[in-house]
Amino acid sequence: MLRYLVAFATVVTLTFAETPTPLVIWHGMGDSCCNPFSMGSIIRMVEAQIPGIYTLSLKIGDTTTADIMNGFLKPINEQIEMACSIVKSDENLANGFNAMGFSQGGQFLRALVQQCDGIKMHNLISIGGQHQGVNGFPKCPVDDFTICNTLRHVLNTAAYSPAIQDHLVQAEYWHDPINEEEYKTKNIFLPDLNNENTVNEVYKQRLMSLNKFVMLRFNNDTMVQPVASEWFGFYAPGQDMVIQSLQESNLYKTDQLGLQAMDKNNQLVFLATDGDHLQISTEFFNEQIIPYLK
Ligand SMILES: *[C@@H]1O[C@H](CO)[C@@H](O)[C@H](O)[C@H]1NC(C)=O
Repeated sequence: MLRYLVAFATVVTLTFAETPTPLVIWHGMGDSCCNPFSMGSIIRMVEAQIPGIYTLSLKIGDTTTADIMNGFLKPINEQIEMACSIVKSDENLANGFNAMGFSQGGQFLRALVQQCDGIKMHNLISIGGQHQGVNGFPKCPVDDFTICNTLRHVLNTAAYSPAIQDHLVQAEYWHDPINEEEYKTKNIFLPDLNNENTVNEVYKQRLMSLNKFVMLRFNNDTMVQPVASEWFGFYAPGQDMVIQSLQESNLYKTDQLGLQAMDKNNQLVFLATDGDHLQISTEFFNEQIIPYLK
């Protein structure tokens, strides 16, 4: 009898241990939940390494087309609310999940963990996400500074008009380092998320409740300016040439978002790979990312 019980217990333990943690994915700008060549191929890569894993690729809107358009036009906080209710109504996610966001999906999933009550996110993996926003044009050649800088100086003014803030997603993470005050008062999404105006203790506690916050940076990224934003760094305030790492920033020193505490507690993981935006090899993915999904 005892022997059977032991055998039974072993089977139960093994079965339990082998139930993989579910994964929630958020696609990037211009992409959708369900493109077989983008998020679809990511899901296949994950499933090949973690058989039986439950995955949910977030679809913001009723159709794939709506999902793509909403990535440009639906105010981010409304998107977070939609994602929050999708995640909460999925019983497969009730015991917690890992989350992996691509490009702007990286900062959106961070917004999800900070803003969505009653979910349990274990690891957050940001693949080229822009946690300090952007200040530049995709693919603007770095050596042709004049035109790039003219464009971004024009946008520094335009991005914060209420009409643009309410209708263009990317303007909600446009970060003008020259006029930090303007950014902090007129940008309706990122300064709030990063606790820059007031310290929202709930945001801080929820972010700190993550097991790991993994940030992958693409060393040769031509889409994101500055690339440092993928590691939560940005331009030092007041100018747009010199980069400041997260650890050098005020955000870190004051610890208004809990990132310093997380760093000291080994909850922050900084990964880097050579290549342009979202260019990730299967080998790198399997070796460096998959361990955080197991
Ligand atoms: C990519 O960036 C890395 C790190 O900055 C650099 O060492 C490497 O030469 C770059 N590769 C290309 C192809 O530019």
